[in-house]
Amino acid sequence: MPRIVLEHVSKRFDKFVAVDDLNIVIEDRDFITLLGPSGCGKTTTLRMIAGLETPTEGRITIGDTVVFDAEKGINLSPAKRDIGFLFQNYALWPHMTVYQNIAFGLENLKWKREDIKSRVYEMLRLLKIEEFVHRYPAELSGGQQQRVAIARTLAPAPKVLFMDEPLSNLDAKLRSEMRTELKRLHSDSDSTFVYVTHDQLEAMTLATKICLMNKGVLQQYDPPLTVYSKPNNIFVADFVGNPTMNFINAKLSEVDGKHVLSLFGLYATFTANMNKPLNRENVIVGVRPEHIAITDSGKINATAYSALPAGMETTVKVKIKDALVSSVVFGAIDYKTDQAIKCDIISDQICIFDANTKELISQGSISINSL
Ligand SMILES: Nc1ncnc2c1ncn2[C@@H]1O[C@H](COP(=O)(O)OP(=O)(O)OP(=O)(O)O)[C@@H](O)[C@H]1O
Ligand SMILES: [Mg+2]
Repeated sequence: MPRIVLEHVSKRFDKFVAVDDLNIVIEDRDFITLLGPSGCGKTTTLRMIAGLETPTEGRITIGDTVVFDAEKGINLSPAKRDIGFLFQNYALWPHMTVYQNIAFGLENLKWKREDIKSRVYEMLRLLKIEEFVHRYPAELSGGQQQRVAIARTLAPAPKVLFMDEPLSNLDAKLRSEMRTELKRLHSDSDSTFVYVTHDQLEAMTLATKICLMNKGVLQQYDPPLTVYSKPNNIFVADFVGNPTMNFINAKLSEVDGKHVLSLFGLYATFTANMNKPLNRENVIVGVRPEHIAITDSGKINATAYSALPAGMETTVKVKIKDALVSSVVFGAIDYKTDQAIKCDIISDQICIFDANTKELISQGSISINSL
């Protein structure tokens, strides 16, 4: 079964390092998203696994086969890697019907006529496009064309399916529908999915594991909720989540064996749930917006800077001394501008980052000391 292993894979274009010493294992039937800002090396990584780009260094194994090894001079062609692609521009053949588009790849693989027919109909049912079987691409909507493209890619049952921003041409509603279908498709098929996106929400909701890159360097490779709740560094913490995590400059000291943080001109006791030494003074405290509670019993005096009720939840910009932080509260609550409020930091997943290296050094809970 296909397990994909990348060992010390790098890609340089002249002196420019597009992918730098990447080591990841993609398990059989995983749904991996390659996530990161534009230019971080997502497409290059995908193309190297697929065999469309030659790595400068490293080794790539798919299943039991070494498909690339820089030292041994192994480099299998894409056709020999048993993979399917779905790229952003999924052009269907305009002169072929939906049926012919899906059948085409199978004919090339010399499948028998009746096998092709039953497989095409299986795909049409799976993607709910049976009624369009005899239409030409020009007679379909963008979303329907997209589904035909997915059917065409899935028809030969590739062991690994690569997708590079396949939903970027669709409107918000269709995107969300297609996400649901892709996730179902993944659980209904035996394939491993590798999916490129720069949309953090898409990565969070689809993936079994997120591979988050920045400037060619892997930042974190973990399940979505781990990436969200235990980010390796400030880049990851900031990239994932909307509204983004609040970052608060603070000083850390030890008083009577306890860790004390000074932030917003207040003192707070920090109780770590990680066993790492906390011997820094300058730190950045990371708090997710949903962990800033607005409550009458709160120990932090603040004012409401602005409130954006969105129906299900309200994003409140809270002013604490000179700092502005985001809080997300459930329900539609409209605070008046500059209304006095009280808030508290409630979570045992408060992040403490080193102010210099920006790495996560601890996590735990904060209790604001009463004065
Ligand atoms: N053929 C090439 N020659 C030189 N530089 C290249 C080449 N292909 C890619 N690059 C560079 O390598 C880096 C990574 O490119 P890549 O296409 O992998 O980015 P990406 O993460 O897919 O970005 P996007 O989200 O914009 O698609 C970019 O800075 C790009 O300019
Ligand atoms: Mg790209």
